Parts: sequence; structure tokens; C-alpha cells
Amino acid sequence: MLMLATRDNCACAKCRNEDTNQRSFDTFDIDPDIRPAHAEGVGECLKITWSDQHESVFPVNTLDRYAFGDGEHETTAPSNLWGSVPGPSSMSYLSIDRDPKWMAKLTTLIKTNGFVFVCDTPYHSPEPTKQLLERIGPIRNTHYGGFYDFIPDLASADTAYTNLALAPHTDTTYFSDPAGLQAFHLLSHVPAPKIGGGETGADVEAASGGESILVDGFKASNILQREDYGSWLTLRSMAVRWHASGNEGIAVTPGQMRPVILVRGKKLIQIRWNNDDRGVVPLGNTWYKAARKWDQILKRENMQFKFQLKPGTVLIFNNWRVLHGRTAFTGTRRICGAYISMDDFTSRWRTSNFSKEEVLAQVMG
Ligand SMILES: [Fe+2]
Ligand SMILES: [Zn+2]
Repeated sequence: MLMLATRDNCACAKCRNEDTNQRSFDTFDIDPDIRPAHAEGVGECLKITWSDQHESVFPVNTLDRYAFGDGEHETTAPSNLWGSVPGPSSMSYLSIDRDPKWMAKLTTLIKTNGFVFVCDTPYHSPEPTKQLLERIGPIRNTHYGGFYDFIPDLASADTAYTNLALAPHTDTTYFSDPAGLQAFHLLSHVPAPKIGGGETGADVEAASGGESILVDGFKASNILQREDYGSWLTLRSMAVRWHASGNEGIAVTPGQMRPVILVRGKKLIQIRWNNDDRGVVPLGNTWYKAARKWDQILKRENMQFKFQLKPGTVLIFNNWRVLHGRTAFTGTRRICGAYISMDDFTSRWRTSNFSKEEVLAQVMG
């Protein structure tokens, strides 16, 4: 079977469509007992002539993958975990297209730090922000729409569309595949007329508050694992229900219940946490104890990176890792932004940081 797997990965011009990189033969037409008739080393490659006379040339370093591939598609960049004072993670909008490596830098900052600030972004309109995000990947459509540009008015029935404080959470916990990236750009924050106010200036509500909070969920998971291993195991193994059902005609919930902490092998994949969007936890005493500890870690001062969003600075972050929240605010805020799927983001990171050969090895191996 190992031989068939090797033959199946032949990348010669007959076996792989050079325009699309897709397999161009039927795997199941090949003799399942195919064997090499002859093999010889040619430079860094192994040339195999098969029992059916087909010839393949494999770079030696790819052969291990066919034999021992672990299904791990994603080459990971090292992660810098952070608390209340992350290291710098920003770039200038002015570097777009001027620096040929700008996309590689942008995506690497998100990959390693979990977030990036794009400074000097025009804010006279939401359009430059939208175009920047579309360069990373297609904007993801949801029941709230695609690219958003809103002033809190509860037009969408979700607390995000109010001026209330929001505890750190991840977005779209209610999708099987939660939004990968999320972006915010505060276009303006101005005083607002008080509802029911008179003609005098005192009836204008000042623009204040609305401090943003980011929490590194991967660091929080590591802390929970260290301080209370049982609780960590509970949050990674007990699947719970999540939902979005505030809008008329909308009742979204993942097809299967999902855990708060998603781990594959030893790798932390995803944090899913919005207590307000959580459904029933069946027989959940153990879960509640674990979730209480988790919540306490997220609320620690030394875990919360706090800052004020300002016009001109776009915040883009990994919604599978970084939780976001805000303090209450007064006045009128106009915020635009969007979601981008994790697979689309990872594709952009890969294609902007690696050669075509490296990319193909990553996705096909
Ligand atoms: Fe949110
Ligand atoms: Zn071939």
C-alpha cells in the first residue's frame, strides 16, 4: 500500500495537471500491488521506474511525508503569547504595494502575535479599509451581511450593536467554522444628542469610553492547563451548544456541539467563547466549575491588553485565538470591519510567505 501511495503522489507532467496542480490520472486504475522495478538516486532525488514502466522522480525530502504524513497541513509560525503588554505588532498602510513583502509581513504579524494594527489608513470613508481586507481574502458573508459599517442602533439584534460593555469573547461561536479573522476600524467617535434632550448644549452626550480589550486565548488556555489541569480537560473535552437567534428568521447553531478549547494532538487550534451566546450545558456541574476558572483567568488585569481604537488604525485579529471586548461608551461611534475565513487567511499567509514549491508541499503532503 505504501508503494501505491508513493506512485499516487507522482508529480510528473503526465500525472499532474501543470495548470491546476490537480491529479490527472485515476488512482484506482493503478495496480494496487504496484512495485518499483528499478530505483536510482539522481542528485537530491530518487528516480523510480515502476512495474508498469511509468517513471517518477521524487525529491528525497518529500518521500518521508508519503510514508509518515500526520495529516498536519499547516506549517505554524512561532506564536508569541502575551498578556496586558504585547510586543509591537503594527505596520503602515503606506507600505501597501510600496514594500513588495507587505502582505507577507501583515499575515506573519497576525499569525505570530494574533493581531496587527494597520496605521495611517484613510478614514474619510470605509472604502480603503474594505479594499485592504479584500486583499487578504474574500470577506465572509453572514446573516449580518458582509463588510459592515455601522453606528450602534440595534439594527441587528446583538449586543455588539449597542453601547454596552462587552466581556472578552470570540465572535461567531455559533458557526461550525467560526470567523478566522475579524477587523475593526473606528472611523469616528463624536458627541451625540441626548435622546429626548432639549435645545441646550448640556443635552449633548460627550464622546467617551469604549476602550478596547484583547485577551490572548492561547495564553489563557496554557495558564488554565497549568493551574487547573482538570478544568482544562473539561473545557477541551465537553462539547456545549452555541447559538445566534436574536434576529427574526435566524436560528444558527453548529451541527454538532463544540468545546471551548479545541486541541488536535498537542496543538491548540481554537478558542470558542462567548458566554452570552452559549446554550444549555447538559448535566454541566463539572463544566461550570471549569468555565468559572477560565472566566477568572480572562478577567485578570495582567491578561487584558487595553487600548483606545482611533480613526486611521485598523485592528485585524485572529478570532480563533484572541478574545475581544470593550468598555461601555457614550457618544456615537462609527465602526467598519469584516470577517475573513481562517482557510482564506491561511492561504494568503502561505502564498505570501513561501515559494510555490513549498506551498504545494504544505497543502498536498
Ligand atoms: Fe464581538
Ligand atoms: Zn507520473
